[in-house]
Amino acid sequence: MDVDVVARLRTAAGRRLLAQASGLLAAGTDTLAATARLRATSTDHELVAAALTQAQLRAAARPRFGPDAEVMLWTRAGLEQATRAVVARHRAARYAALGPHRTADLCCGVGGDLVALARAGLAVLGVDVDPVTAALARANVEELGLGADVEIRADDVTRTDLTGCDAAFLDPARRDRAGRRTFDPAGYAPAWSFVAELAARIPATGVKAAPGFPHALVPAGVEAELVSDAGEVKEAVLWHGPLATPGVHRRATLLPGGASLVDDPAVAAPAVRPAGRWLHEPDGAVVRAGLVAEVAAALDGWLLDPRVAYVCTDHDVGSPFTRRYAVEDVLPFQLKRLRALLRERGVGDVVVKKRASAVDPEDLRRRLRLPGHGPTQTLVLTRVAERPVVLLVRPQP
Ligand SMILES: C[S@@+](CC[C@H](N)C(=O)[O-])C[C@H]1O[C@@H](n2cnc3c(N)ncnc32)[C@H](O)[C@@H]1O
Repeated sequence: MDVDVVARLRTAAGRRLLAQASGLLAAGTDTLAATARLRATSTDHELVAAALTQAQLRAAARPRFGPDAEVMLWTRAGLEQATRAVVARHRAARYAALGPHRTADLCCGVGGDLVALARAGLAVLGVDVDPVTAALARANVEELGLGADVEIRADDVTRTDLTGCDAAFLDPARRDRAGRRTFDPAGYAPAWSFVAELAARIPATGVKAAPGFPHALVPAGVEAELVSDAGEVKEAVLWHGPLATPGVHRRATLLPGGASLVDDPAVAAPAVRPAGRWLHEPDGAVVRAGLVAEVAAALDGWLLDPRVAYVCTDHDVGSPFTRRYAVEDVLPFQLKRLRALLRERGVGDVVVKKRASAVDPEDLRRRLRLPGHGPTQTLVLTRVAERPVVLLVRPQP
C-alpha cells in the first residue's frame, strides 16, 4: 500500500468498496470470490485489493480495538505493533493527569496510542518515519473525529523538532531487519540511546519496552510499570521525570480492572515452607515486576521455593493480584504414581499449569492416557528445592 491508496480508500468509491468487502467477508465469502464480486463493481483493481485487505485487518483488529477497528485503517505490521485500546487508555490517563500542553507520540505507528491520547483530551504531535504509516495515523484520528488537536508528521523522531512538546511517549519498533520481534533493547529502532537523550530534553517521558525488559537497565529515579491484560503480560513502560510516581521503582498493573501494586522496600524476603491449604499464583505482571514478596506479605503467606513464584497460605484469603487454588494433594512428580492416583479418583482429563518445570503439559496429558470423560483435575507442576513436585489443586472463582 502507498500513500495514494490510503487517500483513495477514503474517497466515496473507496468507502463503498471497503463496506462491500467487509460485508462479503462477514458473510463467509472466500477471498477469491470476494475479489471477483468487487471487481465486477470497480475497475480499480489496486483499490479492490486494498479494500479486501482492510476488511480482513479490521476483522482481526476487532478483539483489541472494539468499534474503533471498524473505522480505522491498518497495515498488518501496524496492527501487530499497535497498543491495544485498554492498555493505551490506561497509559493516556497518566499523561492526562499530568496535564501537558502538548504531547509527542514518537513512533506513533497507525495510532493505537495516538487515538487514546487524543481521546483523553490531549493535544498531540504524532511522528512516524514511515510515510504510509503516518498517513494511516492521520486518517485514523480524522475518521474517529479526533483530528482537531492532532498533528501528524512523517519524520525520524531522532531528528524532528519537538519544540512546544512538554511530554513525550516513545514506542520504539521492536523488530529486527527480517521483521521478527526482538527482545533485546539493543535491537530497538530508534536506538535505545535515544531514550536518555529524549528524557533529558523532555523530562515527562514514557517509553514502552518489551515485558522482559531487564530491570538492570532501568535508570535510577525511573518507574517501571509492567502491564497485563486479562492475565497476559503486554508491556513494560518506563516512566521518567514528573510522569513517575515519587518513591516507586516497580509497579504491576492488571487490566482491565486496573489493580496496581508497587514495590515496598520495607517488605522482607518471604519465608519458604511446604505447601499450605491454599496456593496463590501471582499475575505475570507481578512476577515480571519482581513484586512476589509484596504479594506474599499482603497475603501473610510463604513460598514453596525461594525462586518460584507460588505463594501459599493456610488461611482462605484472596488478592486481586493472584489466582487462588485449594490444594488437595502434593506429591513428588512421578508419572506412574500420578497416573494411578488420577485413575483411582476417576479423573477424565487434566489442566496443567506450571512454573519452573521442564515438563511439556501436552506431552504429560498424552502420557497420562486418561479416559477423557469424568471430572477434570488441575495439576500444578513446579520444583521444590530442585525436586519436581505436582500439586493437585481446585481453582477458585
Ligand atoms: C511499535 S510501533 C508503534 C505503535 C504505536 N504506539 C501504536 O500503538 O500504534 C513502532 C513504530 O516506530 C516507527 N519507527 C521506527 N524507527 C523510527 C524513527 N527513527 N522515527 C520515527 N518512527 C520510527 C515504525 O515505523 C513503527 O511504526
